[in-house]
Amino acid sequence: MKYALYVLIAAVVVAAAAGLRHLYRVSSANKREMAQYAGKSAEIKKDLGKALVVYYSLTGRTKEIADKIQTLTGADAFRLETAEPLPTGAKLHLAIKDQLKTKKYPALKQLPALTGYDIVFVGAPVWWYTAATPALSYLEQTDFQGKKVAFFSTQGSNRGTFLPDVTALTKNAQILPDASFNNMGKEYDDAVTAKIAAWINGL
Ligand SMILES: Cc1cc2nc3c(=O)[nH]c(=O)nc-3n(C[C@H](O)[C@H](O)[C@H](O)COP(=O)(O)O)c2cc1C
Repeated sequence: MKYALYVLIAAVVVAAAAGLRHLYRVSSANKREMAQYAGKSAEIKKDLGKALVVYYSLTGRTKEIADKIQTLTGADAFRLETAEPLPTGAKLHLAIKDQLKTKKYPALKQLPALTGYDIVFVGAPVWWYTAATPALSYLEQTDFQGKKVAFFSTQGSNRGTFLPDVTALTKNAQILPDASFNNMGKEYDDAVTAKIAAWINGL
């Protein structure tokens, strides 16, 4: 009994140490990445034509990036919403796992009209190493009519197969380079804005 308790304590300590090590690595990588953009200009020099940002955001992180793209480029924006609210807490994780397994993605309230736009930025959080299911639902139902599409993701640290998964569902589009944003503290706000500008200028 005593032995089992020692084993359990050791397992918890090892798991906690691994978790801390992971957090430290992610935070160091984020810091290094953001150092490249510190003090850099956020001016958009690229002529994108008429731009639309279509995004899904459950807890606001993807919206923050979408808002920045909108402010920098003067794009219009459309936030995707599920027809029915998603469950919360542990039930959310289970529901999403099930949606991904069955490939049955949630119905959306409305789809954005794409007429008149030259480029569509499509953004979503990463859920279970792929794109959030409402964004997959959007892509399943959309024909991009030959327009340019640039994807962006937000995530804790691991976007898994986000890009190949969204690319596979995208119909009739010219897919441009994408961008990926790990969640970070407010101290990196200006650097994140500069990263977005660098990405867009390079499209
Ligand atoms: C159900 C669920 C699954 C997630 N899976 C991942 C994941 O696989 N990899 C990752 O780095 N972050 C993951 N996250 C964290 C989110 O991608 C991250 O917090 C994202 O920026 C949230 O965007 P939002 O605030 O726009 O909803 C997950 C979050 C949720 C709610």
